[in-house]
Amino acid sequence: MTTDAWLAIAHHLAVFGVLAVLATEWALVRPGIGAADVDRIARVDAAYGVLAAVVLVVGFTRVFAGDKPTDFYFENPVFWAKIAAFAVVGLVSIGPTLRYVRWRRAAAGGTGPAAEEVVAARRAIAIELAVFALIPALAAVMARGIGL
Ligand code: HEM
Repeated sequence: MTTDAWLAIAHHLAVFGVLAVLATEWALVRPGIGAADVDRIARVDAAYGVLAAVVLVVGFTRVFAGDKPTDFYFENPVFWAKIAAFAVVGLVSIGPTLRYVRWRRAAAGGTGPAAEEVVAARRAIAIELAVFALIPALAAVMARGIGL
């Protein structure tokens, strides 16, 4: 087994992990949730942060230590489109994370999140999932040097 193969395995597992966490958030953040649900949502969101960081670190390790030269990626706009899409997912995720922090504070006093707060968080998670789904397509194109 080569370093490149190990990195590819780690990359795929971390990516599937992020997808699993996003899907879990989508399932947990639903109309009607109360103070008791908030803690679990915040913990799932923390797992999202950790896994996204692993994707980022392993992804860039592939760029610098994988089998292909670094320029294979840096000179391909499709690579940058993939990075931009990942950044968009990260930026959109800030909104829900800030909401969960506020929900957690209110939940300590026994108050559950307001219905419109839940709708707004769900909208953001849906956008994250939609943009995330574009990334494997960009990855497949990039990996074949299309766009160079
Ligand atoms: C900063 C974030 C990321 C970086 C730097 C990165 C980097 C890379 C690199 C260098 C490869 C190797 C391509 C090759 O074989 O030449 C790769 C492959 C791949 N990446 Fe990422 N990646 C990132 C995030 C993601 C995310 C978020 C996803 C999924 C949503 C993803 C999905 C894939 C897939 C499916 C492949 C395999 C493509 C193929 O061989 O057809 N990556 N990535």
